[in-house]
Formats: sequence, structure tokens, C-alpha cells
Amino acid sequence: MKQAYFLTGTDTGVGKTLIATGLLHAARSSWDMRVLGMKPVVAGSPGDLEKLIAASNVEAPRNYINPYYLEEPVSPNIAAKGVGQTIDIDHIKYCFDEVRGLADFVIVEGIGGFRAPLNETQDISHLAKLLALPVILVVGLKLGCLSQTLLAIESIKARGLQLAGWVANQVDPDMICVAENVGTLKERVSEPLLGFIRYRENAKGEDLIKHLAMPE
Ligand SMILES: Nc1ncnc2c1ncn2[C@@H]1O[C@H](COP(=O)(O)OP(=O)(O)O)[C@@H](O)[C@H]1O
Ligand SMILES: [Mg+2]
Repeated sequence: MKQAYFLTGTDTGVGKTLIATGLLHAARSSWDMRVLGMKPVVAGSPGDLEKLIAASNVEAPRNYINPYYLEEPVSPNIAAKGVGQTIDIDHIKYCFDEVRGLADFVIVEGIGGFRAPLNETQDISHLAKLLALPVILVVGLKLGCLSQTLLAIESIKARGLQLAGWVANQVDPDMICVAENVGTLKERVSEPLLGFIRYRENAKGEDLIKHLAMPE
């Protein structure tokens, strides 16, 4: 069975790349699958692409898994405009369609949060809708994450997309009442919690295999 997911987060820097690489490693270790990570838009974080490539076990042309590579660490619409480019989500869909058949399990990592602007009129939610993939939401556990999570889920559903599951990831080592926050979300979110990752120094995707459940 071929599976593909769109992975988004409650914000930037919440662990999307960490969890994406964790899920890729989990799929290739438990199911012996061909797995591929895609990062359609990079803006100022070249490490994301390298980590996804390292976690994948099939090769795909770099300009297909990453059609837009922007140097500046700012919102993609602004970064693209600054270099005279426009992000075209139809082109991203074309690239995704070209590479998805190479693997049994594909994770497409978004950029920023679910409404991060990509061009003058469209944002990540439009891309997720165009790709028509079930969504995995990475919740960055820190103060304020409860409202951000519920807003993101509302937005995912408003686009008519399925929430395949969510991952609670503690990005703030000093956060208090971490388990209580996850418990509060469990009471309000009916979709599966695929993993609860505590803060860990030098977190790496391959170390999360036992802590992540595969989405249905
Ligand atoms: N559970 C965690 N424990 C420790 N550090 C983490 C954890 N999750 C993420 N990080 C760190 O936080 C930073 C942002 O994570 P990253 O996966 O790049 O986020 P995103 O892709 O959402 O921007 C990275 O330096 C990453 O190693
Ligand atoms: Mg990332």
C-alpha cells in the first residue's frame, strides 16, 4: 500500500523536520518500505533538506523534492519576492506527482505553520489541499501551544482535509505541566496521537523509531 502525508506544525521550529525524519526511519525499519521525504519550499534552513534526504532510502532528483530553495530565513512569499520568484503550487504538485511513485511512504514537509504564505494569495493550506494528502500535525509543546493546535486543526478541517494524526513534541526544555498539556489536547482532539516526544538533547529522527506510531 502506498502512503503519503503532508506534515505541518503549529509553528516554525516545532520539530517538523525531526518528526518527519523519525516517521521515515520508523517506516523503513518496521515495514522495510521505500521511503522518501520532500520539502517543496526551503527558506533559510538548508539542513532540513539534507536531513530528509539522509532519512530517505530512495533517491529522487533534488529539484523535484525541493523545487523552491530560498536563502533568506523569512516567510516564503517574502523570500521569493526578494529574488524575483513566485512560488507556483501547481509546479509543486507536478514535482510531487513525478516522485511519489518512487516510494511506498512519502512525507511532504510544509514550511512554518499551516497558513504560512507562499505567494500573494496562497499559503501552505492551499498546497496541502492541492496535494490532497492526509495531514500530520506536529505540536510544538511550549506555552501557548494549546490554542495554536486547536486553531491549526480547525483550519485543516476547514480545507476539507483529513487529520491523520498529531505528534506532541516538547521543544521547550523548561516547559511546566507538559503531560497535562498533552492530556488537555487528548480530551479535545479525537484523531490519533502518533507520539509524545520529550525534550532530548541532540534529538535525531532515527532515535524516535520506538516512540512513533505509523499513521493509518
Ligand atoms: N524533542 C526535541 N528535543 C530537543 N530538541 C528538539 C526537539 N524537537 C525539535 N528540536 C530541535 O528544535 C529545532 C527545530 O526543530 P525542527 O525539526 O528543525 O523544526 P521545524 O522543522 O518545525 O522548523 C532543531 O534544532 C531540533 O533539533
Ligand atoms: Mg523543518
